[in-house]
Amino acid sequence: MSDGDGGWVRVAGRGELSAGEVIGVEVGGRSIAIYDCDGELFATDNICTHAYACLSDGWLDGEVIECPLHAARFDIRTGKVLDPPATEDLKTYPVRLVGDGIQVRID
Ligand code: FES
Repeated sequence: MSDGDGGWVRVAGRGELSAGEVIGVEVGGRSIAIYDCDGELFATDNICTHAYACLSDGWLDGEVIECPLHAARFDIRTGKVLDPPATEDLKTYPVRLVGDGIQVRID
């Protein structure tokens, strides 16, 4: 893991994230979830906005992540809450592929 340009940080190798899966990474003191949705990459905060659970331990169904603790659901593209008990949206992050590395831009 190293600092990239303009806030971009490499967080994982592309091979670490399989199709339709989610992984959790630690970067800049934050826990971030990286998703592969039909080959497209998305990134959100990994900690559920309801209580304390890692969304990377949850279930990804297309563009929807379900929290493993109380089953709130979020749209990984926008971070929007789709189903309670969460009421607060997730923060999202720009994500890109450089070579075989997945990078996230941290502000
Ligand atoms: S901690 Fe995620 S829904 Fe409660």
